[in-house]
Amino acid sequence: MKINESITYVGKTDWELRKFHGDEYSTHKGSTYNSYLVRDEKTVLIDTVWQPFSKEFVKNLKSEIDLKEIDYIVINHGEIDHSGALTELMREIPDTPIYCTQMGVKSLKGHYHQDWNFVPVKTGDRLSLGKKELIFIEARFLHWPDTMFSYLTEDNVLFSTDAFGQHYCSEKMFNDLVDPSELKQEAIKYYANILTPFNTFIDKKLQEVLALDLPIDMICPSHGVIWRENPLEIVKTYEKWCKDYQENLITVVYDSMWESTRSMAEQIVKGIASVDKDVVVKLYNISKADKNDVITEIFKSKAIIMGSSTINNGILSKVAALIEEIKGMKFKKKKAYAFGSYGWSGEAIKIIDEELQKAGFEVDAKGIKVNWVPDEEGLKNSFDYGVLIAETNRK
Ligand code: FEO
Repeated sequence: MKINESITYVGKTDWELRKFHGDEYSTHKGSTYNSYLVRDEKTVLIDTVWQPFSKEFVKNLKSEIDLKEIDYIVINHGEIDHSGALTELMREIPDTPIYCTQMGVKSLKGHYHQDWNFVPVKTGDRLSLGKKELIFIEARFLHWPDTMFSYLTEDNVLFSTDAFGQHYCSEKMFNDLVDPSELKQEAIKYYANILTPFNTFIDKKLQEVLALDLPIDMICPSHGVIWRENPLEIVKTYEKWCKDYQENLITVVYDSMWESTRSMAEQIVKGIASVDKDVVVKLYNISKADKNDVITEIFKSKAIIMGSSTINNGILSKVAALIEEIKGMKFKKKKAYAFGSYGWSGEAIKIIDEELQKAGFEVDAKGIKVNWVPDEEGLKNSFDYGVLIAETNRK
């Protein structure tokens, strides 16, 4: 598929993918592994695809070009969803130079244990393709230490690897041709779940790239659709997201053994809604909801309210797993609250408070617990807790 006169898309659309990074990331709309062939006087292949599609990739590539005509390979990022077809490809063209960062060499050697013809590059290095050049820009921790961007002069195209990506399939392939609400949802979910831990690096890198003042007509990420219409809009959106982004949103998330904690959750939501008509409240049972969708809502939230029954002097395992995951996200400037019912010992609230504090949340008020099934007073206390949280967090 032609992207423009000199760039051809040679990647793979993985319509069926529903889990990525093992079981870590849900991909409701599949994903793509984007690979691009750039032709000038010289020809360069930018990135490959995930290993299971490597034979298909090389076969399709052969129908597009005689592999011997590929002068250079650029690997912007060594993770196997982008480098996975290298083994299959390098069997055919073993001497072709592979341009990547020094960290990229380390990562590719670690993955494939081959001493290919690596050419390490750093920010500002250029590769002439004839009339056009590729300029390399290291993009450490966006999202791995090996990551770099490649910029194609004349065409003004930024190949941004995982940055600005989305796990999203469409036969249309361009941002101006797909459903904008679907695209926005997949882009923010991708940012929230994959890039949030690197907010500080992203902020710095965006300023650095913008300071280069390179004209950008198109951003070609490694996943999802290409940003062709108003490509700088997603860069500006990233500038907002990386600064401890929040909306007027509160997320309530819980798990419940016998529905008592659920009853409390519902009363808390009612309490919030009774005093603040503007705030959006979202409620999830984490044992039934998709974890990555919940994390996306937490990313957007100004406050979270987390509930668990007490079990074996601890908290329910799905709640524990969620806390473990959001610890890694390094969220900042978000308030947190705890609630839950218990039968005998009732440690859950204390544990949630402590763990969320360790996760970087501002634990704002003592959590509330109800013994056994909440009676009228227990339900009222939960409602009032919602009122308190709404009033404290009113924008
Ligand atoms: Fe899409 Fe970091 O790999």
